[in-house]
Amino acid sequence: MKPIYFDNAATTPVLESTLNKFKGWAKVYGNPSSQHQFGQNAREFVEAARHAVATTLKAPDDSIIFTSSGTESNTLVLHGIFLPYISKKEPAHLLISAIEHASVRQTAKFLSTCGIDVEEIPVTTTGIIDTEQLKSMIKPTTKLVSVQTINNEIGTRQPINEIGTICQAKNILFHTDAVQAFLKIDLDVSQLPIDFLSISAHKCYSPKGTGALFIRDKATLVPQLKGGPQEIGMRAGTQNTLGIRCFQESIEKLNESKTRLRDHIQELDSYFLQKISDLEFENHLLSNEKRTPGFINISFPPISSEDMILHMDTNNIAVSAGSACSTGSLDPSHVLKAMNLPKDVIHSAIRISLGIQNTKQEIDSFFSVLNKFITGI
Ligand SMILES: Cc1ncc(COP(=O)(O)O)c(C=O)c1O
Repeated sequence: MKPIYFDNAATTPVLESTLNKFKGWAKVYGNPSSQHQFGQNAREFVEAARHAVATTLKAPDDSIIFTSSGTESNTLVLHGIFLPYISKKEPAHLLISAIEHASVRQTAKFLSTCGIDVEEIPVTTTGIIDTEQLKSMIKPTTKLVSVQTINNEIGTRQPINEIGTICQAKNILFHTDAVQAFLKIDLDVSQLPIDFLSISAHKCYSPKGTGALFIRDKATLVPQLKGGPQEIGMRAGTQNTLGIRCFQESIEKLNESKTRLRDHIQELDSYFLQKISDLEFENHLLSNEKRTPGFINISFPPISSEDMILHMDTNNIAVSAGSACSTGSLDPSHVLKAMNLPKDVIHSAIRISLGIQNTKQEIDSFFSVLNKFITGI
């Protein structure tokens, strides 16, 4: 059987059109900061891609900077805001949601060891932030609220407009990690009260090694990588020209066929859910009305996540348990724990994340393997 990839929230396959043009783009080897023709050609790649990101987000071109990853974009925001408070020994408070990606959680944890007051905003049993709770947690020292747009494990969409509005009214900066949301849903920062927004190319059918960050007002952020004047002075270092060019291709292709691709994912998602409802053995679908199509988290107690993943892998099907980062250790997911789910449900949860390349036949194969596995026990 041809391998089936249902782990698109971890990373995505590179677009066919990108693979075909890759070698040609790789020949543009100039340094985008150089004045000569070679440099100008590389610079054109970077600026055209910047324009593509900016247009998609309805942001000015000069509010977008390229980084190496979603992790770097998230870290730049948290460090860029709080390290100055640490060096000045001034009190500062950071609020993050209890279900943020490790890149936000671990950075916040580090900041708390340096004296920053960090608190987690709890989520409901369906994985959504209670905005009344958020309001009650704001302090006079709160400098930043960081809440993701779409969760990478359960696909829940947070009320970022409402959260941003609450922050704006209190003069607090708002960052959203939109790594799982960019190109899957429309994001318009000309309307949304967002100060910083992180994205990552490899979640969008591009190679790994490129991220981007929307910065509304660069005066609010202290750059972390120091050196050359690249990226409007916010991120020194020669840009990953080739990765950035590939990202532009993804943005153009995904925007061009936006409706068709989103309909395709929605159709696959509904098909998957229909198949789940036909199952005759115990299962727990962690779904709610705020779930983004394509993110399916399901448990089959008492089968552990690890056993299920291994069994699927043996049958050439790639699924995961929670986020890719926690898969290595298979620690119980902090997201499912924050939702207060029963232990047996958490320990047997697997994530199926669908991509534009997936088909209904692949879903049929998944259920055929699943049925044989469970009824064979
Ligand atoms: C929600 C979220 N934020 C951040 C990241 C980190 O992005 P990157 O892999 O580009 O560092 C991920 C990756 O899984 C993610 O899902």
